[in-house]
Amino acid sequence: MGYSEIRFYYKNVTAGVIGDENGISSEQFGNLAERTSPLISKLNDERKKGKIPYRDLPFNTKISQKVKELITQIGSGCENLVVLGIGGSALGNIALQTALSSYMYNTNGSQRAGPRLFVFDNVDPPQFVSFLEWLGDGFEKTIFNVISKSGRTSETAAQFMIIHQLLLDRFGPESLREHIVATTDAKQGTLRKIADELNLRCLEVPDGVGGRFSVLSAVGLFSAAMCGIDIDSLLAGARDMDKRVSCEDFYKNPAAINAAINYYFYNEGKRISVMMPYSYALKDLADWYRQLWAESLSKKEDLAGHEVFIGPTPVKALGTTDQHSQVQLYREGPNDKLFTFLQVENFDKDIKIGPAPDCAPELEFLVDKNLSTLLNSEKTATEYALVESKRPCLTVIFPRVDAYTVGQFIYLFEVTTSIAGALFNVDPYGQPAVELGKEATFALMGRPDYGDLVRQIQPISEIDDNFLV
Ligand code: PA5
Repeated sequence: MGYSEIRFYYKNVTAGVIGDENGISSEQFGNLAERTSPLISKLNDERKKGKIPYRDLPFNTKISQKVKELITQIGSGCENLVVLGIGGSALGNIALQTALSSYMYNTNGSQRAGPRLFVFDNVDPPQFVSFLEWLGDGFEKTIFNVISKSGRTSETAAQFMIIHQLLLDRFGPESLREHIVATTDAKQGTLRKIADELNLRCLEVPDGVGGRFSVLSAVGLFSAAMCGIDIDSLLAGARDMDKRVSCEDFYKNPAAINAAINYYFYNEGKRISVMMPYSYALKDLADWYRQLWAESLSKKEDLAGHEVFIGPTPVKALGTTDQHSQVQLYREGPNDKLFTFLQVENFDKDIKIGPAPDCAPELEFLVDKNLSTLLNSEKTATEYALVESKRPCLTVIFPRVDAYTVGQFIYLFEVTTSIAGALFNVDPYGQPAVELGKEATFALMGRPDYGDLVRQIQPISEIDDNFLV
């Protein structure tokens, strides 16, 4: 295994480390291997038959080619790129930017390899208006990438309609093609219809790829490449991970082991899964994972149609920040959590700690140490403290954070999700429970065909003064 590969460490979930009551014994691992191995083969077969389209994204050179061609057409005049999208149409974009562009990217021109990037994944009026006020005349050098697979998501549609009108008012209809890139389904949906009607520049969300599995398509690649992220390395990382997660030997397959461990602990009552990166750059990957895990695995019915109400609860945390907010709970609260740390071996920037003031010799132990040494020691210290409290811990080790390792990580967790879906016997690719909320919004916002739903919502939407204090 090369130095640039991420590794998955699972010793600290074993009975040998955290005891028989909480850990997984060799025999239990054997049972998990027996149960999981046929599912790996099944998924490999389905994938060969084209039934798991997200798995082919890293191999689809046409997508990255199209993204690059569009970026060449756009040229160098774009100073601000604004992504309008939500859920799977935004979280991957944010995660890639936080992971692979510098912390001060938007603020410091010299740390920036492309336009400033803003991702609006909400319809918060003060936030959006404040941005528009800041943008002012900057509109001229701004591109809006509106992303919606279905094209019917109210939040994204509303953002788009505001921007559309502002562009029309300022520059007229001819400007729309220059300022908007629509990423949507190739054939259907409201955004597709609008894009065709307005002759917008378009990128596609590939058929059969749901939002939360779409970051390695044009959905995530366009904003990343615009900001100078090496999308070829990102895809190469995912492709190389594909070999490892297709391996039918359970003990050599990090996605299978990860899924099986999560499945085991869920059934043992540890139903909360905390992802805790010890790296600011990786913090939004935990947010991306939170959606992937929650929407994919939480289902009312299993594949046989039985009511199961299954679903591990993903939680994001950040080391060391959340040591000072959550670790009390994690150690002395209920033992109902599985922890996954993300650890970086080599940071691309580091700094030494300065001398201790004369009056504080007790700080000498920190002097001359790298800040990265402190951060990684804190990770080990937290893991030690959790293991002392018999809490199971996993670690994904990044040799460094770059496009190649991030591509591996994304693909590792996507395939982990597919295997976990198979273990839980649920369909990880739908999100039926999200739809009702979307439809209720249509009803509350006055869509004519939703009158019945308005009436059903009334007991909830009307405030009952008897219960108002
Ligand atoms: O993962 C998903 O499918 C969802 O989170 C969607 O991405 C989200 O609801 C936005 O949908 P759309 O891209 O259709 O606007």
